[in-house]
Amino acid sequence: MCGIVGYIGRKQAAPVLLDGLAKLEYRGYDSAGLAVRNGSESAVVVKSKGRLSNLSEMTDRGNTLVGTCGIGHTRWATHGEPSVKNAHPHVSGNCAGSGSGNVESDVVGVHNGIIENYIELKAKLERHGYTFYSATDTEVVIKLIDYYYKKYKIGPVDALAKTMVRVRGSYALEVMFSDRPGEIWVARKDSPMIIGIADGESYVASDVPAILKYTRNVYYIGNFEIAKLTEGEVHFFNLDGDEIEKELVAIQWDAESAEKGGYQHFMMKEIHEQPKAIQDTINSLTKDGHIDLSACGLSDEEIKSFSSVTIVACGTAWHSGVVGQYVFERLAGIPVRTELASEFRYRHPLLGKDQLVVVVSQSGETADTLAALRLAKENGVKVLAIVNVVGSSIAREADYVLYTLAGPEIAVASTKAYSTQLIAMYALAIKFASVRKGVEEKPYIDSINALPNKIEEILAKKERLQWFSSKYSNAKSIFFIGRGIDYAVSLEGSLKLKEISYIHSEAYAAGELKHGTISLIEENTLVIGVLTQSEVLEKTISNMVECKARGGYLMGITTYGNYQVEDTLNFVTYIPKCEELFAASLAVIPLQLMAYYVSLSKGLDVDKPRNLAKSVTVE
Ligand code: AGP
Repeated sequence: MCGIVGYIGRKQAAPVLLDGLAKLEYRGYDSAGLAVRNGSESAVVVKSKGRLSNLSEMTDRGNTLVGTCGIGHTRWATHGEPSVKNAHPHVSGNCAGSGSGNVESDVVGVHNGIIENYIELKAKLERHGYTFYSATDTEVVIKLIDYYYKKYKIGPVDALAKTMVRVRGSYALEVMFSDRPGEIWVARKDSPMIIGIADGESYVASDVPAILKYTRNVYYIGNFEIAKLTEGEVHFFNLDGDEIEKELVAIQWDAESAEKGGYQHFMMKEIHEQPKAIQDTINSLTKDGHIDLSACGLSDEEIKSFSSVTIVACGTAWHSGVVGQYVFERLAGIPVRTELASEFRYRHPLLGKDQLVVVVSQSGETADTLAALRLAKENGVKVLAIVNVVGSSIAREADYVLYTLAGPEIAVASTKAYSTQLIAMYALAIKFASVRKGVEEKPYIDSINALPNKIEEILAKKERLQWFSSKYSNAKSIFFIGRGIDYAVSLEGSLKLKEISYIHSEAYAAGELKHGTISLIEENTLVIGVLTQSEVLEKTISNMVECKARGGYLMGITTYGNYQVEDTLNFVTYIPKCEELFAASLAVIPLQLMAYYVSLSKGLDVDKPRNLAKSVTVE
């Protein structure tokens, strides 16, 4: 969702802002804008609809905007259509136009998040003579800051604090005051924002990749906190206006990890990074041949005390939880239920203190997952987070954190985050099995350690999948079926395909097809069966045969050795043999590759599919 950047220092701000926004493009957006100040002159605002390249062209790659202090934004429309008028930055002035050009306004700002009570606040401001040119909640909040700033003749800290107390919702706010040159002010509640510091320079961004090229030293600004940025300096304040100390944290990700590194798309690069990401994650969770959760703080006594586990997440992270549910129950013998975060909160779940809630999130900022975490904590339930982004809201609010070491995931379609989430699930399940049932850990740890090489083997043969996938670029509908863990990984294969190829697709528990969905199978409908679980392989094959009888074209993903499937299926992809409980880690690779190749052959924007955002910070 929206991306924000800010810069103050010695360089010209606009090129730095454009570069930062380009790194945040993966978050999803439909318009973009910049506001740059040259010394004490008023800010110049430039906005455009559509791709960032439009804004870059309008400003000659930022060169026509002079000034070393500025803010920038990519907007993912919530209130009001994607348009220049609704694009950020917004201004406090009562200008009749779009808020572009040389603005005399006293406050100029950008915002990520949603202001829930903006209608009521807008009415209040209208009573005080403010007029509005856009349909956004952001224009309201910028004008509210201006209102308090002038009415009470107070400084930026107090004006921002008053605004923060008055608004309901979420925000990462970044503003410049016309009478405070050389300063950028930010405030945050529930929307991601980091502040980077280098020699004589300060940066603001929604996410690390935007500033990684310039600095790895960052501050995480907390909820209800305010910060003032000047050249190379930052001061933090709480709502009372008291200055507060914050710890400077060094980011471990390297700058190259946020670049494409020779690949055509981030998604393909990230698919290939999976063996390393998995190995790094395994290494961080094992020590001397045992699962070691000491870094996350979960003790053996606590592991013994839980009577059930509830895994809560969204999208791909939820899919890793569905795999986790099977693995966990089978290995550790504890009841596990996996739930969609967006449903969990509103079904009024019965939460007991002897439960463990596991939330899973790549970004650590997904609004529904964060809300589920908070609900569990409010009910006295311990929460363990499996999360990729260090310092994210979910990481900070959970009782225990298991970090996945996937590095920055830029493509909207999640691949390496999923693979590392699976590893975290396996590690947790092995640990629970060992502590609660005395299960020997070594064979399972050996099995997960063998996964990276097996993934390399699958990747080495990707061309055959490219050839097969390209034949399906015009498919109307594609079905994925499986049972148990094979069903769980089918869910992920189907999501990958639909999000980047825009082909309708369903993942179905193989045995359930005949209860209705099989009516959708027509001549040549592609049905992909995942066949890694020997216990149910024949049953799934039977369900595939039922599809073939209705015209379906059958593709299977199975392990080497199961050559008998060729008697029935039209096309087979083999994956190396592994411990079946961990087979999702291998079966997902051909599914990711297929989704990628179908999207590629359709000429679509693989990394930035339509309508989607990388980090979903609204409910
Ligand atoms: C997956 O490809 C998606 N882009 C999406 O489903 C994603 O997994 C979901 O929005 C959850 O995100 P999170 O892991 O950052 O919480």
